[in-house]
Amino acid sequence: MKNTISTLMAMRERGEKISQVTCYDFSMARLVDAAEINTILVGDSLGMTMQGYSDTLPVTMEEMIVYGRSVVRGAPNAFVIMDMPFMSYQVSVEQAVANAGRLIKETGANAVKLEGGAAVEEQIRAIVDSGIPVCAHIGMTPQSANAFGGFKVQGKGEENARRVLEDAFTVQRAGAFMCVLECVPPKLAALISSKVDMITIGIGAGAGCDGQVLVSQDLLAMSGDFKPKFVRQFAQVGAMMTEAYRAYDAAVKDGSFPTLEESYVKSDCSDEFLRALSAQY
Ligand code: KIV
Repeated sequence: MKNTISTLMAMRERGEKISQVTCYDFSMARLVDAAEINTILVGDSLGMTMQGYSDTLPVTMEEMIVYGRSVVRGAPNAFVIMDMPFMSYQVSVEQAVANAGRLIKETGANAVKLEGGAAVEEQIRAIVDSGIPVCAHIGMTPQSANAFGGFKVQGKGEENARRVLEDAFTVQRAGAFMCVLECVPPKLAALISSKVDMITIGIGAGAGCDGQVLVSQDLLAMSGDFKPKFVRQFAQVGAMMTEAYRAYDAAVKDGSFPTLEESYVKSDCSDEFLRALSAQY
C-alpha cells in the first residue's frame, strides 16, 4: 500500500511509529520497499555515502535528480522525500520554489526536505503554497556544519533548547507536515513532538519522536569504521559483502567459477565444427 501524508498522519494519531531510511538507488530502494519501510529520504548524505565527500556541501541538483529518480522507480509504496542540496534554496524564495519543483517533476518523489528553522520560513511557506509537501529539518543541520564549527548536538543549554522549540513551531506555521529533529536532546525532542501537530522524525534524538530515520549505510554497517554514537547496526552487511566479493575473487582465480551450468548457453557447437573452425584460423 502506498504511504501518503494521510496514512502517515493516521499512524501518528494512532501512536504507531513511522520508519524512515535514506536510500539512493534502485536496487536498495526495492529492498527497502519490500521491508515495508514507510518513508525513504533521498538524503544529500549521498555526497558522503555514495560519492565519498567528507560532507554534503558539494552535492548538486542534477546529482540529486539522478539518484532520486532511481529510488522512485524502485519504491512504489514508500513515501519518497527529496533533500534539497546546499544552495538550492538559500539564495532566494523563487529559486527555492523552482528547485523544489524540479525535484518533484523530474524524480516523481512525494515531498522535499530542507534544513533550517526561522531562516527558511519563507522558503517553506512558498514551496508549500506551490503544492509541494515539505519536511523541515532542525537541530543539527549538516549543511551548516561550517557555521556550527562541526557536527554538534543542538538544543543543549536553555537558550538553545528554546530556539530549537521555536524553530519547530516556525516550520510548522510555515506549513511543514514533517520535521526531522537531528541530534536534539531526547527530552527536548519528546517535548517538541508532544507540542506540534506535524510528524517528528528523530535521528540521534531519542525515542520520543513520531518516527526514526537512519542512513542505510550506517544501519547496515557499510560505512567502514564510521559509526556515530546514535547508530544501531542491524546487520553486518558490509562485512558480508566483502566476504562475498572475496569468495568470488577466489573462485574466478582458481577457475571454479563459472561451471558449465553457470554458462549462459549450454548447447554448444559440435566438437567437429569447432575443430574445423580452429583449423581455418
Ligand atoms: O541527508 C540525510 O541523510 C539526512 C538525514 C541524516 C536526516 O538529512
